[in-house]
Amino acid sequence: MSESPETSSRRPVRSFVIRAGRLTDSQRKAIEQHWQDFVVDYQPQLLDLSAVFPKPGPLTVEIGFGMGDSLLEMAIANPDRNYLGIEVHKPGVGKLLHGIVANDVSNVRIICHDAVEVLTHCLATESIDRLLLLFPDPWHKKKHHKRRIVQPAFIELVRSRLQTKGTFHLATDWQPYAEHMLEMLEDSALTNTQGKGSYWLEPERPETKFQRRGQRLGHGVWDLLYQKS
Ligand SMILES: C[S@@+](CC[C@H](N)C(=O)[O-])C[C@H]1O[C@@H](n2cnc3c(N)ncnc32)[C@H](O)[C@@H]1O
Repeated sequence: MSESPETSSRRPVRSFVIRAGRLTDSQRKAIEQHWQDFVVDYQPQLLDLSAVFPKPGPLTVEIGFGMGDSLLEMAIANPDRNYLGIEVHKPGVGKLLHGIVANDVSNVRIICHDAVEVLTHCLATESIDRLLLLFPDPWHKKKHHKRRIVQPAFIELVRSRLQTKGTFHLATDWQPYAEHMLEMLEDSALTNTQGKGSYWLEPERPETKFQRRGQRLGHGVWDLLYQKS
């Protein structure tokens, strides 16, 4: 039966589709054994960060951490910071859980849910020191551009959750998306740390899995770093 336009117009446009990825044995085992220790179950209510992390520290949030390798690397290198990874892809959550336990890491927590809803309902205004959006799904086709997560309302949501002087770091391997990000962000209330209209040419971050895939395909990489003043 076809849906009435009224019903379909109420469904939010999401920046992801849940991929039917099979879990490896180690991912399944990590989910079964360690979910309750490191995954915060989504509830549409404010999170008490002091109850979520064992130690206080500046908060980095990564949206769409994929398989989580770069998030784990950053968390190991910066034990005095806290890291909240948000991802909807279960195999990635399993892989990161496995890495957290294998490396005895205590400063990472995960939420397996739509990041837009997590930012909206769970994270207080001015609570985030750094927000990372590394290689978000580029949604190449024009008819899918509305699914791109970087849109004016999303940027305003990010800005509201950032602390003063907090940063928003984005990267993509798809030039038209980089140009779209730059255009939207230059029109926003955030400040480009590299100067108006400029990309961040020497970004400080680990390489990600999706970045390596892009490089194999001959893609370039564009990073952007904005700050809340
Ligand atoms: C292209 S992948 C990049 C993964 C990783 N950052 C990397 O560079 O290897 C984008 C990821 O973002 C996740 N994602 C997209 N929209 C999301 C959302 N609204 N909330 C949480 N995760 C999202 C997808 O599930 C996917 O794993």
